[in-house]
Amino acid sequence: MDIKLEVLNGKIPEHVAIIMDGNGRWAKQQGNERVFGHKQGVKSVKNIVEIASELKIKFLTLYAFSTENWSRPKYEVDALMALLVSSIHSELNLLIKNNVRLKAIGDINSLPTEVINELNEAINTTSKNTGLTLILALSYSARWEIIEAVKNIVKDVKLDKLDINNINDNLFSTYLTTKNIPDPELLIRTSGEQRISNFLLWQISYTEFYFTEKLWPDFGKDDFINAIFAFQNRKRRFGKTGEQI
Ligand code: IPE
Ligand code: IPE
Ligand code: MG
Repeated sequence: MDIKLEVLNGKIPEHVAIIMDGNGRWAKQQGNERVFGHKQGVKSVKNIVEIASELKIKFLTLYAFSTENWSRPKYEVDALMALLVSSIHSELNLLIKNNVRLKAIGDINSLPTEVINELNEAINTTSKNTGLTLILALSYSARWEIIEAVKNIVKDVKLDKLDINNINDNLFSTYLTTKNIPDPELLIRTSGEQRISNFLLWQISYTEFYFTEKLWPDFGKDDFINAIFAFQNRKRRFGKTGEQI
């Protein structure tokens, strides 16, 4: 049977997160500059947004730039920022057409002004869309996010806005940048690396991981469908025994 049909008949995860990795290696393999791989990576983003919409996934979070990525050579960081501006600009109509709502998480104020402006325009223009919510993680790291949450919690306790006894899992989640977004059920990482690289540490406590050797620019719709298929065949126990499920 067609695997896409089978996937559509199964449980579709509400939230999928992706660590899009391998652009640089992809470019090097063909004797090109790393930046060429990032440009090609944008095409994969378009494909995956399309298939995620088609599968009626509610939230798709893409790790596009980490706090640690600021340490890359200036030339590459500048190229990535310019690519963000041009891609958000050129793909805005496609987001509107596909009823996609854009959001961003991370230390957005640390981004160049042109990126912030382009991002805000796309976020505002798509804010009423009711299809897929596409969340770009930009200048994001989970430890940064957790520290920010702790600071804001302490502030609210000091101001008597929050009682220490009311701090629990749910409350803590509301202090994160992913407030109101359910935890991802599936996390995909491309390029064969099997690590988290400071992504969504709090939110992935019970997430299923899917690692693939495919480099991000080679990751297509079929690969995404394969990942969902693998997810649908996992036994999620949440601490219970197999018999209880
Ligand atoms: C992922 O690809 C994109 C970003 C981190 C911005 P990389 O640029 O990390 O590619 P590799 O891992 O060096 O191949
Ligand atoms: C993780 O990829 C960050 C993004 C995909 C944006 P990296 O390529 O930066 O991760 P490490 O440094 O190899 O772990
Ligand atoms: Mg990498």
